[in-house]
Amino acid sequence: MSLKNEEAEVIIKVKRYTQEKGFYWQEYKLKVDRFTQFTEALRRIKSEQDPTLAYRASCHMAVCGSCGMKINGEPKLACKTLVLDVIKKYGSNVITIEPMDYFKPVKDLVVDLDDFYNRMHKVKPRLYPSNEVLEGKAEHRLKPEDQKVLWKFAQCIWCGLCVSACPAVQEDPEFLGPAAHAKGFRFLADPRDTITEERLKILIDSAWRCTYCYMCYNVCPRDIEPVTAIKKTRAFSRLAKDKTEVIKTGEKHTEAVHSSIFDSGKIMGSRVYLSTYGLLGSMKEMIFLMQSGKLKYALVKEKAVENIQEVRKLLRG
Ligand code: SF4
Ligand code: SF4
Ligand code: FES
Repeated sequence: MSLKNEEAEVIIKVKRYTQEKGFYWQEYKLKVDRFTQFTEALRRIKSEQDPTLAYRASCHMAVCGSCGMKINGEPKLACKTLVLDVIKKYGSNVITIEPMDYFKPVKDLVVDLDDFYNRMHKVKPRLYPSNEVLEGKAEHRLKPEDQKVLWKFAQCIWCGLCVSACPAVQEDPEFLGPAAHAKGFRFLADPRDTITEERLKILIDSAWRCTYCYMCYNVCPRDIEPVTAIKKTRAFSRLAKDKTEVIKTGEKHTEAVHSSIFDSGKIMGSRVYLSTYGLLGSMKEMIFLMQSGKLKYALVKEKAVENIQEVRKLLRG
């Protein structure tokens, strides 16, 4: 690896795709300096070496959200990622670029985002103000403290990186996905909005389907923390009418974890399972644990932590 004068020759291996050939890899060699982002590297490859290479990019400044892709396996915005930084991080001049996971490929690094946009539109991503405001008879100002809560979640650039990295989206067709939840919470929590009941119906069941793996937190280029939006949305469950089984189970699980920590300072696995899933549901899980040889861990008798009063003080806030 050579980084002479903050310049380097790099081999970029692109995972390409066409409907006729399927996926295949192609290598390109080029010189980069300390200012070369991946969108610039791809622009030079396309204009100087191979006009058939397809990728999306527009703003080149992390605003339009069109250049999401996997760089050395990590979901990234190509315009926000410098080639030299990746060479330094991985200690290699050979870098792979692939289309984002989960989405259907269209051509090379371009993926079909229809599914992503459908999810975003399902949460009604705009404010529904009151009639008085719409008719110009009233003004509804947002207080600075409310704006502070909403600001983070309004910064989404619809890049799709969090969805491409989310295991729950891939497994559960009823889950709206991290970006839609960030957007949904931004309007659910807006005191000027008038369709709270409808939003609760759209968001609450889905919010309990997240597995809290934090991948969306790790990959979001705007530090939006979609998982935080999901946690905050769950707190609205108490307002939901006609609760689904998923919501009821989620609420039971939260209560079970809370009471286990309150009593012992720890999450007692078997006790939490019993309270959440009942005897029958827990027995199914026990059979699974027995088959996988993990039952002994579930049955370990945990000692309560010392100074439990301190833990309880924390829980009471
Ligand atoms: S924390 Fe939830 S929304 Fe975020 S990536 Fe994991 S499962 Fe998906
Ligand atoms: S939440 Fe972040 S990663 Fe997800 S679409 Fe919005 S900006 Fe992209
Ligand atoms: S080109 Fe617009 S976000 Fe990267």
